[in-house]
Amino acid sequence: MRLFIDSADIGEIREAAAMGAIDGVTTNPSLLAKAGKPTRQAIVEICEAMDGPVSVEVLATSHTGIVDEGRELHRIHPNVVVKVPLTIDGLKALRTLSREHVRTNATLCFSSPQGLLAAKAGATYVSPFIGRLDDLGHEGMELVEQLVNIWNNYDFTTEILVASVRHPTQVVQAALLGAHAATVPFQVIAKLIRHPMTDLGLARFLEDARRIPKE
Ligand code: E4P
Repeated sequence: MRLFIDSADIGEIREAAAMGAIDGVTTNPSLLAKAGKPTRQAIVEICEAMDGPVSVEVLATSHTGIVDEGRELHRIHPNVVVKVPLTIDGLKALRTLSREHVRTNATLCFSSPQGLLAAKAGATYVSPFIGRLDDLGHEGMELVEQLVNIWNNYDFTTEILVASVRHPTQVVQAALLGAHAATVPFQVIAKLIRHPMTDLGLARFLEDARRIPKE
């Protein structure tokens, strides 16, 4: 399963890339606002730090507006994947952009019919937002399960990219279900590696090592 970092913070992205933990980056307007840099500058910095897909969301909402903005984002760097919201105009734009071989990420997916239509429109990725479904009292992972089951019946090339991940267990669940990828905030990536038994075991080994006779 591919792992992306859900961040626009260049420090976090560089750190996760140095750990060999990530295959790409997803951003969104909220994350870019938090990073506090002009979008083009942030995208170039991220693409230079990470050689993999970098999702950047359009702000336009009309079919032609999304397509124009998508083409513009695509021209900034070949790693850019154009993130398009799952609306009717968004679907039209996904179809247009995919026919132009521009990679896309169908974002804000909250239902399996939305995911199905994203795949039919030719999206490169579809992003089910599981954490936000959980926040509403739904079981976000059920959406991933439904999408994986649908995908098993057909030969869609669209990859299921589990998004809005809040806990390490969700990454494991997504992998067990066979999702192609998950995008994860830096704090969750850090939690994926940490284990108290590893820290305790290491402390014990280092302590015992002091009793190894010197040459
Ligand atoms: C995915 O592409 C989104 O940027 C992200 O996962 C949203 O996560 P949130 O619900 O934690 O904001």
